[in-house]
Amino acid sequence: MHVAIIMDGNGRWATKRGMPRVFGHKKGMEKVIEAVEWADDRGVDILTLYAFSTENWARPKQEVDFLMNLLVEYIDRELRNLHEKNAKIRILGSPNGLPSICVKKLDEAVELTKNNTGLEVNFAINYSALSEVERAVKNIVTNGYDEDEIDIDLIKNNLYTAGQKDPDMIIRTAGEKRLSNFLLLQAAYSEFVFRDICWPDITWEELDSCVDEFNGRKRKYGGLK
Ligand code: IPE
Ligand code: IPE
Ligand code: MG
Repeated sequence: MHVAIIMDGNGRWATKRGMPRVFGHKKGMEKVIEAVEWADDRGVDILTLYAFSTENWARPKQEVDFLMNLLVEYIDRELRNLHEKNAKIRILGSPNGLPSICVKKLDEAVELTKNNTGLEVNFAINYSALSEVERAVKNIVTNGYDEDEIDIDLIKNNLYTAGQKDPDMIIRTAGEKRLSNFLLLQAAYSEFVFRDICWPDITWEELDSCVDEFNGRKRKYGGLK
């Protein structure tokens, strides 16, 4: 099973507690660690986590800087553990514009875990689904494909998620009901599960309840089953 999560509501979680927004991001990172543990324990095949969108650069510099530092801190803290779990890390998104220290850490994480065969963890960082499509089209043109060679498989093989199955379920926390430029093509037949709780309040029980909701859905793919 491929589970993708739009981890939303860090800012609101902190604001509700009279704390600065970044406090919510800090707590949110703890929950990323927990979500990976959960996915590994539950036998999820792929876990995709939306960590930073290309639109998130529009936030105050201080918040963006905090998030970039948190990313480095996360890798420093968790990389060894992820590797021991046999997890394979992939980054969805562009390195352009990220601080060089982040790019270095992310490259290190991908390189170290590239031959691992367990849980695949995709971090969407500086990610935009629309830019991902643009990049795929450019790759295809650069590689000189003819019109009759272009099909959905070729396009999908030029996305960041090349070779991975599409998300079965996309979870979004904090009550918002939109994709916010996340996995547009890959979401063609994903089941959407929404929760009103903010990401820093996520628990294993809540994630299990999302899977239960997913299991209750009838996936018909346009047919009549
Ligand atoms: C999600 O929480 C984390 C990121 C986008 C990095 P938000 O920061 O969007 O929290 P809200 O939506 O403002 O509460
Ligand atoms: C989506 O959340 C991006 C991440 C969770 C990283 P946002 O908070 O940025 O999305 P909008 O602005 O509410 O659409
Ligand atoms: Mg938000």
